[in-house]
Amino acid sequence: PDKAARDGNKRSNFSEQEDWEEQQIRKSRLHFGSNDAGLAGDGYELLFDDDDAVEFVKSAVQMDEGDQMDELAEAIDAKVTLKRELQDERKNLPVYKFKDDLLKAIEEYQVLIIVGETGSGKTTQIPQYLHEAGYTAKGKKIACTQPRRVAAMSVAARVAQEMGVKLGHEVGYSIRFEDCTSERTVIKYMTDGMLLREFLGEPDLASYSVVIVDEAHERTLSTDILFGLVKDIVRFRPDVKLLISSATLNAVKFSDFFDGAPIFKIPGRRYKVDIYYSVAPEADYIKAAVVTILKLHLREPAGDILLFLTGQEEIETVEEILKERMRTLASKMAELVICPIYANLPTELQSKIFEPTPEGARKVVLATNIAETSLTIDGIKYVIDPGFCKIKSYNPRTGMESLLRAPISKASADQRAGRSGRTGPGKCYRLFTEYNFRNDLDDDTVPEIQRSNLANVVLRLKALGINDLVNFDFMDPPASESLLKALEELFALGALNGRGELTKTGRRMAEFPLDPMLSKAIVASEKYKCSEEVVTIAAMLSAGNAVFYRPKDKQVHADTARQAFNVGNVGDHVALLNVYNAWKESNYSPQWCRENFVHSRTMKRARDVRDQLEALLERVEIEPCSSAGDLTAIRKAITAGYFRNAARLQKDGSYRAGKCQQKVLVHPNSGMVQVLPPWVVYHELVQTSKEYIRQVTELKPEWLVEIAPHYYQ
Ligand code: CDP
Ligand code: MG
Repeated sequence: PDKAARDGNKRSNFSEQEDWEEQQIRKSRLHFGSNDAGLAGDGYELLFDDDDAVEFVKSAVQMDEGDQMDELAEAIDAKVTLKRELQDERKNLPVYKFKDDLLKAIEEYQVLIIVGETGSGKTTQIPQYLHEAGYTAKGKKIACTQPRRVAAMSVAARVAQEMGVKLGHEVGYSIRFEDCTSERTVIKYMTDGMLLREFLGEPDLASYSVVIVDEAHERTLSTDILFGLVKDIVRFRPDVKLLISSATLNAVKFSDFFDGAPIFKIPGRRYKVDIYYSVAPEADYIKAAVVTILKLHLREPAGDILLFLTGQEEIETVEEILKERMRTLASKMAELVICPIYANLPTELQSKIFEPTPEGARKVVLATNIAETSLTIDGIKYVIDPGFCKIKSYNPRTGMESLLRAPISKASADQRAGRSGRTGPGKCYRLFTEYNFRNDLDDDTVPEIQRSNLANVVLRLKALGINDLVNFDFMDPPASESLLKALEELFALGALNGRGELTKTGRRMAEFPLDPMLSKAIVASEKYKCSEEVVTIAAMLSAGNAVFYRPKDKQVHADTARQAFNVGNVGDHVALLNVYNAWKESNYSPQWCRENFVHSRTMKRARDVRDQLEALLERVEIEPCSSAGDLTAIRKAITAGYFRNAARLQKDGSYRAGKCQQKVLVHPNSGMVQVLPPWVVYHELVQTSKEYIRQVTELKPEWLVEIAPHYYQ
């Protein structure tokens, strides 16, 4: 990109300095003319597009009189200071020194592998450098993919702040069921899954000038599929740039895959980290973690703590225990600021982890794997690592996929430890033995593609016209058994015909950003004339597991309220439908949610998701249609998607599920746990101490033969 393009980009909206100043005056009048001294609003954000504007507005403010104006001037000063500080911080990141070299390399090579220690500024800075260098001129965008939703949102928010723009304007993010971008968006952070979906509408990704596949080392299923697709695109779009960015050193593998693309290394700073192991295996790592936190807090010099846990439940448990302990120990200890972070944490609480720790206090971040490489939290000096994470595992023999708690790999353990040595020497406490580390942990995590149900991916690839999956360019191909299972599953769902080609049903299913079984239930709702209801159920299932809550002091009330939705005891799906409809009847009232022990946040999300699913219904030309209270129709539509998840009651109160007759139990949270009908269909299998089925609905066995004859005959 030449210099003209660069300058053009900087001031793209204003051709002449005078024009530009006049616009600023008009805008500032508009803004100051109003009574609202608040600092939000489009006009205001634009004023800070560059420093001249800031100075200009300041002088305009000083010319005026009145308290409100003083206040405003102060607020502007604060904002200017913040902006300067942010700009200084940017210049302090390791990647800054390599800015020019990096841009030169990107100009020279179409594909570049970028490797740099976590926290060196790859994710937040490189898209900005490209933007400043003119890659977003001519209406093109920069895409930057993230394996995790929270990372996409939080990084986008940070970059918007650094650029002084409103989130969703020049900088935005796109995650499933939530699009926070606009026509002006030029830097778009998105989950890898969302970019994959964009291929459906734009197979050559023509609106992007640069595609950054970030956090490539995570090797998520979607990232692995993206590799194959973007590799193809660079061959026929010489104008597009592809950057593969990774935090780990086995970049050679990426380079080999991308036809020997050069590797650009950003040397990070990493201070010495002392590693301490448990002397003997810990029987209860939650307890051990809490003890370690308190000991550290009491004895060690200032510095924040990061504890890795496997999920929301564990995080909430530890949070509760810590709060309790701090209450009793309050007089003896300095303040401990507890900050949880996990995928379903409400957005407004997510930013709390980045807030500076108050003087004299210590922050303890309770995080899932998300803090391993996706998010960098400044100020961490101590890491506590129990050595576990939740990992998806798939058994192609039984066709069952489940989330399991499993030991992490050596590579992960080292990444985690490294999080403590970013700004100075750190300490890492591993809650497992050194023997464990050396002998029991795998070197690397197995790529997700080799431990997943591939039905979803196969359906998407088929929808993109990629039929020959065996010869698809995989970095690490999945087991052929898994591919075969996926084809079988899609065939059973009617998404593929006998020759493995996409059917009309399959094409419709692929439009929904849902698991194929759920998409199938929606498509089948046309036949059973209950699309309204099934879409509601799908939205409720997708909005998160936390629909109901159960406060300790009101458990009986909560259970009664909950049971009231289980009308007729036919199943959890219908109960979810009842919840939604009752909430809708209350005019979407938060008060109603409180009275019924229902999370209003989940409900709001369900409403958003539902709106989007409804729009997709229209796109695949399914008429909205209500079953008018016919619950059988709804249950049949669900069964049409989930017939593989049928289970039969045994004498001991357990069930046998699926063709492989696995022993499972109804989850204690299910409304059906008291009912236990002879046959059920379930939404998912979760593995904790036992194998539980969640979201369970009664079924008549003859429906199975009626609905899925090819599978059940
Ligand atoms: O991608 P990489 O790991 O190389 O670094 P990054 O995510 O770009 O982080 C660079 C800096 O931005 C770190 O110091 C982070 O703490 C900071 N950051 C932040 O303050 N808030 C965010 N939401 C994301 C990053
Ligand atoms: Mg990053």
